[in-house]
Amino acid sequence: MLLTSLLRIYLTRSLRPFEFTNKNKAILDYENEENLGLYVHIPFCRSICSFCPYCKVVYNHETVKKYKLALLKEIDMVGSILQAKKEVTSLYLGGGTPALMIDNMKEIIDCVKKYFDIKQGIGVELHPDDINKGTLNQLKSSGVTMISIGIQSFNEKCLLALGRRDGDFIKKLRMVDEAKFDVVDVDLIFGIPMQTETILTEDIEKAFSNGATQISTYPFIDFTFANNTYKPLPEKEKKRMLGSISDYCKETERERTSVWTFAKKGTGKYSSVTRDNFLGFGVSATTLLRDQFKINTFSIDDYIEKINFGQLPTSLTLSFSLRQRAVYYLFWSAYSMVINPVQFQKIIGKPLKSMYGFELWLCKLLGFLKERDGKYYLTEKGAYYYHLIEQAYTTAYIDKMWNISRTTAFPEQIVLK
Ligand SMILES: C[S@@+](CC[C@H](N)C(=O)[O-])C[C@H]1O[C@@H](n2cnc3c(N)ncnc32)[C@H](O)[C@@H]1O
Ligand code: SF4
Repeated sequence: MLLTSLLRIYLTRSLRPFEFTNKNKAILDYENEENLGLYVHIPFCRSICSFCPYCKVVYNHETVKKYKLALLKEIDMVGSILQAKKEVTSLYLGGGTPALMIDNMKEIIDCVKKYFDIKQGIGVELHPDDINKGTLNQLKSSGVTMISIGIQSFNEKCLLALGRRDGDFIKKLRMVDEAKFDVVDVDLIFGIPMQTETILTEDIEKAFSNGATQISTYPFIDFTFANNTYKPLPEKEKKRMLGSISDYCKETERERTSVWTFAKKGTGKYSSVTRDNFLGFGVSATTLLRDQFKINTFSIDDYIEKINFGQLPTSLTLSFSLRQRAVYYLFWSAYSMVINPVQFQKIIGKPLKSMYGFELWLCKLLGFLKERDGKYYLTEKGAYYYHLIEQAYTTAYIDKMWNISRTTAFPEQIVLK
């Protein structure tokens, strides 16, 4: 906690914390943002996994019907400020379990398409239980081009430790492979009790050799409000595991596309987080613009009620200081392993070197970054330290933010120090 605070104070050159308040701006000023991405949150699951921190409830048919109407209205409210259709990079539908609204998916995507021209594809998160020929066909005919499957592990003991069931994953992956999506991501978790490096590399190989074009390997995080029977392995073990994931992918010529993702060469990326700006729709969805970050309420009932009153379901907003925005940008650029000074200047409005010249020099000296063709690339060592920092911020910031938001629909403020 102290370390995350000190790093924030140093990099933002200010004691000012990240202060989210309910003094919301009524309108989202996104019309001129470049590289805008879109995200839609579907908060329904068949059952709740003990380890999962995301905003979700158990499926209920009546709630889903009301939620769909509210979601379409939110998209209309935000989209209708545009004078003309706006180009966006991509649309991701995450959850929860978006396929539980498969019969509504085309309608939701078509509603988005009334206002936005999606250039680089549509991605959907799938639970393995969602995978069958009917759902895959519906996804294809709705225009979905990328999918991400939450396998977590192919190993029965690891699944049991997470409280998940085995479900003929290889057969399902092959079915997905036959359906020919552009990108197939498989989520795996590392640092699960009883998991060994051999189990993990077997998992990686099973994913790739049965059709995955990308794997996302997330370190198991024990959120304070989760209900985990088994706790994650200690950081020393996670360090070894991340090293073996990286080594194995290097040996087998899979490219590291972010600190926690690896992909077959020449394939596209499934990434809903590494975008310059994005608009989020649905409960708990976040929106990031040039100088503002906003988060929707986590309460489904309050979300529906607000929208039915003709208001945006915003719970909290943060107005960035220049350096806070710069740090936020650098955080997610570094996650994708490359910092592009041209893009930095476009978004932040100042040269990267004039703001963080010393830090770049120091990171190069310490072997965390390498400069090539005017860009800064994270090294293996840099990626490991990033993994540590990301976990520390998840525990200090995301855990706190989500824990308050899941119990209070509209908190007055949340201060992240
Ligand atoms: C929204 S979730 C899951 C999507 C889908 N509902 C499923 O269960 O397959 C996205 C991913 O976050 C990762 N995740 C969730 N909780 C986690 C935790 N406590 N630690 C690490 N990764 C986690 C999992 O890999 C999961 O597949
Ligand atoms: S891991 Fe997936 S299925 Fe489980 S609770 Fe989270 S979103 Fe739902």
